[in-house]
Amino acid sequence: MPKVTGLEGVVAAETEIGHVDGERGHLIYRGYWAKDLAVNHSFEETAYLLWYGALPDARQLAALEERMRAARALPEALRRVLDALPAELPMMGVLQASVATLSGIASAGWPPSAAQAEFLTALLPTVIAYRYRRLRGLPPVEPDPSLDHAANYLYMLTGEMPNSDHAKALTAYLILGMEHGMNASTFAGRVTLSTQSDLFTAVSAAIGTMSGPLHGGAPSEVIAMLEEIGTEENAEPWLRCKLENGGRLMGFGHRIYKTKDPRAEALRIVTERLTGRDHAFEFALHVEKTAIRLLEEYKPGRRLYTNVEFFAAAIMTAIELPAELFTPTFTAARTVGWTAHMLEQSAHNRIFRPLSVYTGPMPAIGD
Ligand code: ACO
Repeated sequence: MPKVTGLEGVVAAETEIGHVDGERGHLIYRGYWAKDLAVNHSFEETAYLLWYGALPDARQLAALEERMRAARALPEALRRVLDALPAELPMMGVLQASVATLSGIASAGWPPSAAQAEFLTALLPTVIAYRYRRLRGLPPVEPDPSLDHAANYLYMLTGEMPNSDHAKALTAYLILGMEHGMNASTFAGRVTLSTQSDLFTAVSAAIGTMSGPLHGGAPSEVIAMLEEIGTEENAEPWLRCKLENGGRLMGFGHRIYKTKDPRAEALRIVTERLTGRDHAFEFALHVEKTAIRLLEEYKPGRRLYTNVEFFAAAIMTAIELPAELFTPTFTAARTVGWTAHMLEQSAHNRIFRPLSVYTGPMPAIGD
């Protein structure tokens, strides 16, 4: 049986974009604590930091905001593609197809540019909202240039001016979701870009990688888990039964973090402020506490704690985002980090080409 390592401990690239210290529970974006950026800076400021390497001054920020507002409108060719996609295609598939389509209709090619990163990041919420409303027979809501990135996303989904606390909480979530070192989707995106694919093709590869339940697909499964558990009394028997049967608890465990995930900690605070410790929040805390105790009992020494997805689910429920949009919303945030990595990769590119160890049979050696 071959040893399955999942490339654990392997360094795939040097990066100046983000640093994840799993032992200390640190997450740093270009020299700044991600948790501070999430509460003290806007989506656009943090995106600028990741793409350009420094926080923008007032003029640079205003110019970026203007460019991103202008890029929110859905290109007509993409609208036709969206209308043609089958209703059964999940939103992650829709995003993957849309972004791949952009490689034909936006000015793509090699090398990738920050302008492409800005354009794609600005456009993705429009794609999600358009598709979401269309499947429900609702008319599209045009982007509102008076609103910032997160508020405009909520507005395009509902057609109503968003509650400013909801927009602030969503901004914090989007910032904390932007970047996370060499995670599976960022790696997939960098590998694809390293072949000199264009940025849109590489992001579409990253979206495919993001869609699985072990990566970006976890938050909606967290909601399903909390719904199935239902009551505080049922938490322990339900979680025990899951672990007895070798199941995984969604929203717990991480390849890198062997202590509390700092994103989960930051989102817990944001959710607490937003909900004022309502019943749903107290229930989530009870499930979290019980799960960590039982994980220690069933998986001693593995150091399994709450990951970002657990409180991402709580925050997105609190702002009334439908569960099917959790992973697409995470994707819209992570696009910033993916594209920053692609710009970095292209600046000193060498194609990724690792080795494998052959463990199959050899042909008979002739006499
Ligand atoms: N529930 C129960 N057991 C777990 C969990 C969990 N959530 N996570 C890990 N384990 C156990 C495994 O069963 C394994 O036990 P074993 O040693 O007895 O075989 C041990 O811990 C190590 O697990 P690995 O799969 O080797 O850990 P890895 O680092 O490869 O996986 C991962 C990390 C995929 C996140 C894992 O913890 C998991 O499946 N968690 C649940 C899904 C989830 O929440 N995903 C979101 C991650 S955050 C993000 O991607 C943004």
